[in-house]
Amino acid sequence: MHVHIFTLFPAMFQGPFHQSVIRRAVDRGLARIRIHDIREYAHDSHRTTDDYQYGGGPGMLMNPEPVFESVEAALSPYPEELRREIPVILLSPQGRPFRQNIAGELADSPGMALICGHYEGVDERIKEHLATDEISIGDYVLTGGELASMVLVDAVVRLIPGVVGSEEGVQGDSITSGLLQHPIYTRPPVYRDMEVPPTLLSGNHGEIAQWRRRQTLLKTLNRRPDLLKSAELTADDLKFLETHGYAGD
Ligand code: ADE
Repeated sequence: MHVHIFTLFPAMFQGPFHQSVIRRAVDRGLARIRIHDIREYAHDSHRTTDDYQYGGGPGMLMNPEPVFESVEAALSPYPEELRREIPVILLSPQGRPFRQNIAGELADSPGMALICGHYEGVDERIKEHLATDEISIGDYVLTGGELASMVLVDAVVRLIPGVVGSEEGVQGDSITSGLLQHPIYTRPPVYRDMEVPPTLLSGNHGEIAQWRRRQTLLKTLNRRPDLLKSAELTADDLKFLETHGYAGD
């Protein structure tokens, strides 16, 4: 997967992509990440990339020219057919909410171009005529799209086959399965009087599976009851949830 990131603050990306899983993905050639400095495409000698908004209003907006031209320069080497499959995503708090299913869809694409908005926002022509999608990572306002694009890249790259050790690791994720993950433990069995639940040490696989399923259901019921509406639940699951106060809607 080819990832192109367009930013006014390229230095912010030194670090997060050079560690851990993402670094391994890059080292193995499973992902290629290029950071493009939008300022290099500024039209004037002061390298201006922002301006006041027409009609008056607070803050500065990103000018269209450097953004259009930096994205076009990065994507033009791709054959037309491939280019059409590369989403151009603007990160902004007005975008559609980022979810695990979107990460999964993006992981299937040959690449993605991420535009990090800044200041009060970007000229609307970038949204209408350059970006093919607009994504928000949550209902809060960041100082810019840089951290949001890092979050998105992290969530997408780990889903590329071969990046995370076993497929199972990804499949069993919290959220991927539509429910929150049950508690998990490793050695030692007792640490400062804090014990691993005995069922997990019992060796009884049937009981362990039931314990995990029930913990998954309870945690989801307590923290994210909204997820239960679209989850695949068995009659047993429903019965168990109902005994814990779940009313079904
Ligand atoms: N830029 C500023 N806030 C953002 C958010 N919540 N998601 C994506 N991009 C942003």
